[in-house]
Amino acid sequence: MSTGSDFLQLRPAAAPAKGLTTWLVDALRTAIRQGRLPEGARLPSTRVLAADLAVSRGVVVEAYQRLADEGLVGAHTGVGTVVTSLARAPEVRTAVGAPVESGPLRMPLPAPPGIAFDLSPGVPDLSAFPRAAWLRAERAVLDDATAADLGYGDPRGSAPLRRELAGWLGRTRGIRAGADDLLVVGGVAQALALLAQTLRARGVTVAAVEDPGSRGARDQMAHWGLGSVPVRVDGHGMRTDDLAASGADVAVLTPAHQFPTGVVLSPHRRQALLGWAAAAERLVIEDDYDAEHRYDRAPVAALQASAPDRVAYTGSTSKSLAPGMRLGWLIAPAPMRADLIAAKHASDLGNAALPQLVVAHLLATGGYERHLRTVRKRQRQRRDALLSGLRAEFPAVRVEGVAAGLHLLVTLPHLAGRADDTELAARIAAAGVFVHPLSWHRRLPGPPGLVLGYAAEPPDRLHEAGRRIARVVR
Ligand SMILES: Cc1ncc(COP(=O)(O)O)c(C=O)c1O
Repeated sequence: MSTGSDFLQLRPAAAPAKGLTTWLVDALRTAIRQGRLPEGARLPSTRVLAADLAVSRGVVVEAYQRLADEGLVGAHTGVGTVVTSLARAPEVRTAVGAPVESGPLRMPLPAPPGIAFDLSPGVPDLSAFPRAAWLRAERAVLDDATAADLGYGDPRGSAPLRRELAGWLGRTRGIRAGADDLLVVGGVAQALALLAQTLRARGVTVAAVEDPGSRGARDQMAHWGLGSVPVRVDGHGMRTDDLAASGADVAVLTPAHQFPTGVVLSPHRRQALLGWAAAAERLVIEDDYDAEHRYDRAPVAALQASAPDRVAYTGSTSKSLAPGMRLGWLIAPAPMRADLIAAKHASDLGNAALPQLVVAHLLATGGYERHLRTVRKRQRQRRDALLSGLRAEFPAVRVEGVAAGLHLLVTLPHLAGRADDTELAARIAAAGVFVHPLSWHRRLPGPPGLVLGYAAEPPDRLHEAGRRIARVVR
């Protein structure tokens, strides 16, 4: 006879005082509140759980109904009973005293109407999209494409694109992978979604994330049931001592240019991180979202280059071409690949064929590289213009990180304890400039700061926006 369930190790006492149904409701509610059953987690069928617990099916049916009445779970045809987003209760304390989070997907924060300067981070200069080069490449691709190229293709992505990307990433990022190791995805966001699904299926419930860090990345994973535990970032990148104490076996990082602080993971932290990963077959997810935009020197090689069996590497064309392309890549350790391909296939049967072939053509002919050289120069001028505006009004302004990417972080230690960055951002918005307060991208306490995206405005306007910001925070 079964004495209990593998699911959450539920073990009813022979005759629970409160009755079996109430006992089961309490146990599941606690698991949901503590994040052991995150949003999106599927409960076993009533038949399976009843059999495992050796209780009548009516007990489980009634328990699920009560949880549904509380809004903690919902029934979905063909899927079963699933923990809902309303069930979110992220305050689980971890070894380092930080909350685990698994919550609903948040959309990007839009600038309010009437704003003169939108300095939201993350968006490149969309007016710089290489339309002419794209048209030429698309014509060439259509001239050559066979009918079969337009059919349902390999879910891993088109072979020419995987081949070109493997070569490009090898040359520019030191990536060690061949065309067959690479999965074409709908951006870093989809890579994280596929990884989250695959990890959840293997029983992983939380990943360590940088704090401050990418809010979008952690929301994406939370949507797929992978909660996150914040780990502090300092001037050397993620604190590997905190990571070790976090209890997580998966860490998500932006090592080449940390979002949003802009710091590069230092050599000793890289070593510590890879040591942590190797010690217990752990996984590092390397989000290389903007490495092609380093202005002062070549970016550091990808972590994947040092440990291809411990690192899942992902990047996209969102910062180099346009986020609307929804085109990226994922190179995961070999044992994960079959599950990731299956998840990709189940999601969308593979990326759209034509854009893949066009990007492959741009890579093969040097068009992609030429475009990057142009935008790199442009972004650098924009960064300089924003800095000159800030410094014109506030010479001692403190800018963190290296000269790279599409945003910079201004920290305001002189206002620590005296001003809240959300309130400062509201005052800056009243002066016509939309910026993100650093606190939007962090869960752990820290000094106030502002994240300023500079890619989408021309230099003269950035100079003016910088002056307006500095006048509020100096
Ligand atoms: C740090 C970071 N990771 C990932 C993404 C998402 O990238 P993608 O458009 O490739 O899904 C973003 C988008 O801004 C980002 O800032």
